[in-house]
Amino acid sequence: MFPGLRASTKAALAILARDVNPRRHLSPSLLARTSTLTAVLLLTPQSRRTMASAAAAKRLEGKTIVITGASSGIGRSTALEFARTAPNNKLKLVLTARRIEVLHEVAAEIRKEVGEGVEVLPVQLDVSSPDAVRGFIPGLPEAFRDINVLVNNAGLVKGVAQAPSIAEEDINIMFQTNVTGLINMTQAVLPIFKARPDGGAGDIINIGSIAGREPYAGGSIYCATKAAVRSFTDSLRKELVATRIRVIGVDPGQVETEFSVVRFYGDKAKADAVYAGCEPLTPDDIAEVIVFAATRRENVVVADTLVYPSHQAGAGVMHRKST
Ligand SMILES: NC(=O)c1ccc[n+]([C@@H]2O[C@H](COP(=O)([O-])OP(=O)(O)OC[C@H]3O[C@@H](n4cnc5c(N)ncnc54)[C@H](OP(=O)(O)O)[C@@H]3O)[C@@H](O)[C@H]2O)c1
Repeated sequence: MFPGLRASTKAALAILARDVNPRRHLSPSLLARTSTLTAVLLLTPQSRRTMASAAAAKRLEGKTIVITGASSGIGRSTALEFARTAPNNKLKLVLTARRIEVLHEVAAEIRKEVGEGVEVLPVQLDVSSPDAVRGFIPGLPEAFRDINVLVNNAGLVKGVAQAPSIAEEDINIMFQTNVTGLINMTQAVLPIFKARPDGGAGDIINIGSIAGREPYAGGSIYCATKAAVRSFTDSLRKELVATRIRVIGVDPGQVETEFSVVRFYGDKAKADAVYAGCEPLTPDDIAEVIVFAATRRENVVVADTLVYPSHQAGAGVMHRKST
């Protein structure tokens, strides 16, 4: 695979690519002979990086990954990042959102970038509809039903209204999408995970927010939905502690996506003002964290991650450069 690497290095690569801890799975004498750790230490930084990405790709081998909200922002970037990480490893991506025509564009973009090595299935799904979520798995082609990773990313914020003036419609759509939708998706997929040996296996990756940790004025409903996601995520991890099902929470700070455009009901000028003088995260930054978490050794759970851009230190703590 990597011409020029020494035999001991190749042995180290083979071990790292497998989902095992070398110390537990090799006899002490074999470990001493292959001198695995020495071999890893002798590698150049470049080969170490190559090995790390080879291991990540190998850990995604043959997996089926469902991403909600894959038509935009973090979800779209996550789909691309998974495909880039494992372009030739029989990866299957199920991309879901309401805008099916945009999902087809994302699928075409992935094919253009990585070729035909990743199977991509766009599926229209409104996670706020319990009926639609109930029909999701039965509606998948057989070959895409053995799901290994669920990225619960679909979510939205509507408005900045404060009580008692928050529109009932906005309250409902935020709770039905961010909370009930995420819980219903999790419940739909968990039986597939739990049917696997060892109590079950698979990854649930829930996208929360700094808003779930630090509520702010003008965001009471959105913050409450993300606090609910955080509680659900933490409870679920405890409920599944005897399994190999990993429950992973990723809480982004400020990321520039369509998020603020949706918040201001399509008013792009108001959305742009949110990022004035700031250098927000890109959706690719969060996608890298999601894919990193999904490609650790099976005994490693990146349980809880908060990601800020440099000039953010809290929900409303932004350093803005004056213009
Ligand atoms: N941007 C930020 O600053 C930020 C910060 C912290 C957390 N987050 C969280 O990150 C996640 C992704 O947001 P984003 O920033 O990437 O925003 P985005 O660009 O607006 O993407 C949101 C995605 O969610 C989908 N979606 C919305 N309602 C849906 C529904 N009912 N059913 C299915 N899909 C639905 C949208 O697709 P369709 O419209 O096609 O359905 C879209 O693909 C959200 O959970 C958000 O709360 C964002």
